[in-house]
Amino acid sequence: MKVIGIESSCDETGVAIYDSERGLLGEQLYSQVALHAEYGGVVPELASRDHIRRLPMLVRAVLRETGLAAGELDAVAYTAGPGLAGALLVGAAFACALACSIERMAIAVHHLEGHLLSPLLADPAPAFPFVALLVSGGHTQLMAVHGVGEYHLLGESIDDAAGEAFDKTAKLLGLPYPGGPELARLAQSGRGGRFRLPRPMLRDKSLDFSFSGLKTAVRHCVENSAWQAADSADLAFEFEQAVVEVLVEKAARALTQTGFSQLVLAGGVAANQTLRAALHARLEAVGAQLFYPPAALCTDNGAMIAFAGSQRLLAGKVAVSDGQQGIVVRPRWPLQG
Ligand code: KG4
Ligand code: ZN
Repeated sequence: MKVIGIESSCDETGVAIYDSERGLLGEQLYSQVALHAEYGGVVPELASRDHIRRLPMLVRAVLRETGLAAGELDAVAYTAGPGLAGALLVGAAFACALACSIERMAIAVHHLEGHLLSPLLADPAPAFPFVALLVSGGHTQLMAVHGVGEYHLLGESIDDAAGEAFDKTAKLLGLPYPGGPELARLAQSGRGGRFRLPRPMLRDKSLDFSFSGLKTAVRHCVENSAWQAADSADLAFEFEQAVVEVLVEKAARALTQTGFSQLVLAGGVAANQTLRAALHARLEAVGAQLFYPPAALCTDNGAMIAFAGSQRLLAGKVAVSDGQQGIVVRPRWPLQG
């Protein structure tokens, strides 16, 4: 079964074709980073317009790459939410029109489900059940994953998401957009012990997170009269340590609480090498296994949407067939329930 996936929830236009027998057949991605860079963040209207521009050529390109005709596709999966309303609408309208033209089903996919199932595209892949640590620009969640569509929320951020905290802190340090990877790069040349930031909610018994205080603590350091730009790397190092420590501790607790022995790390922040290394070390010590998607599939992409759509179809769990119900997007959409 061949499913084309369309992702347009934020600033990446992604298109891919996944075959349930042969795996990922082809993938095209266009990043809008350059478009938004001069504004220091994503401008929703510009994002929507650019998705309109890119989608037709990316779909043509992925068909060329795979040697398939549109009529050979079995379904069209698209990100229906959460994300930017206008950007989602572009992808949904395009996907539903494509599905209609080839008389196939349109599958509405939850963006976070795409992220959390994406490590299943790697080799070795985890087996259900597992705990998923979803760390993206919009969400920080710990989920107990029992199977496709069976997600139980264990804890989440009560304010900023981890990626959002990276991005906002990067801005405070004067780094260009997108801040997360830039801050991570800077932290590599930083030294520990110069600054001390809090580890928010580390002692709290819940599996919830809070990252907005961390960003405020960074602001206090930067606004101090003794602050020098040369201190940036050391502060970036300490910030990254603080986020990583909290994520690792709560992820380990989630494994203990569920009794599961596999952790899946997904979402844009899953690309962070310090986080991966710290999770590896911690999980190895307790005999648990860590899985994450290949680097290119950590941030937003069409492959994870094609894959999640195909898994839903195979499991008989297609929630909304928008071909019949009109074009539906859900800018705010909880994954559980
Ligand atoms: O999953 P994603 O592409 O988009 C959302 O669904 O939000 O995640 C993007 C987020 C951004 O906040 C970005 O700064 C962060 O992931 N990110 C990183 C790294 N690479 C991307 N954060 C820390 N370290 C990285 N290496
Ligand atoms: Zn994402």
